Amino acid sequence: MRLNIEKIRLDFPILNTQINDRPLVYLDNAATTQKPFYVTKALEKYYKETNSNVHRGNHFLSQKATEEFENSRKIIQGLINANSEKEIIFTKGTTESINLIANVFGKKYINGGDEIIISEMEHHSNIVPWQIVCSDRKAKLKIIPINDNGEIIFGEFEQLITNSTKIIAINHVSNTLGTINPIKRIIKKAHENNIAVLIDGAQAVPHLKIDVQELDCDFYCFSGHKVFGPTGTGVLFGKEKILNKLPPYQGGGEMISNVTFEETTFNELPYIFEAGTPNIAGFIALAEAIKYFTNIGLEDIADYESELLEYATKMLLQIEGLKIIGTATNKASVISFVIDGIHSADIGTLLDQMGIAVRVGNHCTQPIMERFKINGAVRASFAFYNTFEEIDILYMGLKRAVSMLRD
Ligand code: ALA
Repeated sequence: MRLNIEKIRLDFPILNTQINDRPLVYLDNAATTQKPFYVTKALEKYYKETNSNVHRGNHFLSQKATEEFENSRKIIQGLINANSEKEIIFTKGTTESINLIANVFGKKYINGGDEIIISEMEHHSNIVPWQIVCSDRKAKLKIIPINDNGEIIFGEFEQLITNSTKIIAINHVSNTLGTINPIKRIIKKAHENNIAVLIDGAQAVPHLKIDVQELDCDFYCFSGHKVFGPTGTGVLFGKEKILNKLPPYQGGGEMISNVTFEETTFNELPYIFEAGTPNIAGFIALAEAIKYFTNIGLEDIADYESELLEYATKMLLQIEGLKIIGTATNKASVISFVIDGIHSADIGTLLDQMGIAVRVGNHCTQPIMERFKINGAVRASFAFYNTFEEIDILYMGLKRAVSMLRD
């Protein structure tokens, strides 16, 4: 079934606005997605009609807020098919989810001489937290190399595993290369060697159907704002039996069961990892975002985005001197590219003047820039509300930018 894009676009008011006197062409979806009005309406409704703290009051509003907030947890559990609501921890975003696990898993399980494996295509947020753990615990960080297409080299990954490897942290989809990693195979191999696996799913959840039980990953992280929900909302999935063995992350209200000056006992899952008042409105609105895109249908979204990717790839390759960075066989709708002799920042500036929003720079993946020996790239990333016409506008805009910058 083809999506009714014209109708879908009406649900996103920002898509009908003008930037620099041109209709907005928003192609920066890997950085953040736009929000359907159901999401903004839910935020407004919460603050106008329900605003109250959760899990802390027995008055009407507090109970209503708690009910709606916990209902979001159920919806997120359903989205990724977690076994229990206790396995869904609310965070600020993928970055916080990864930092949380790096911190508590590191404290509990990483000791001097242990090893952690990540890949060469990680976002900084799946590199730096592990570097901090390695520095604190005197452990070693090992890196899975990637090939010229931007795919991990599986044989090299297998070679990196030793008896000291404690955890593997890898993205499901690369934000720069678009590569969809063979995470099921990686998880299987890791588990054969008794190694835990954390998946950074920030770029996967907007495009793919995720089933954490089928994947059998130990931890899976994603951000609300990349799945059409509010900023400042994130999810950490963890297997209940593993989370139950980990120490708390932050101390404060909500995460405790009983506090005296002599001793504190902690709350149960998931609250033990949710100190402080959460982004209540944000999570309630995130549930609306999830209902919205799952109603459209994840399979139809994936099919349509593949068509967009294929068309955009074909069009962009017609631009003289353009080279795509990331040509994996299995790819999500993200295209990073460089153009001979032209700085990516200049292209971004000219496209912006034409109302076209793309991201330029290192995309928080400096090691990828080093791997491909480039100092930055332009990235166009597509969501299900983008159109073939917008790709034509990008193509025309690029041709114009190139002719201006080459003259
Ligand atoms: N991680 C986001 C991106 O790739 C911000 O743009």
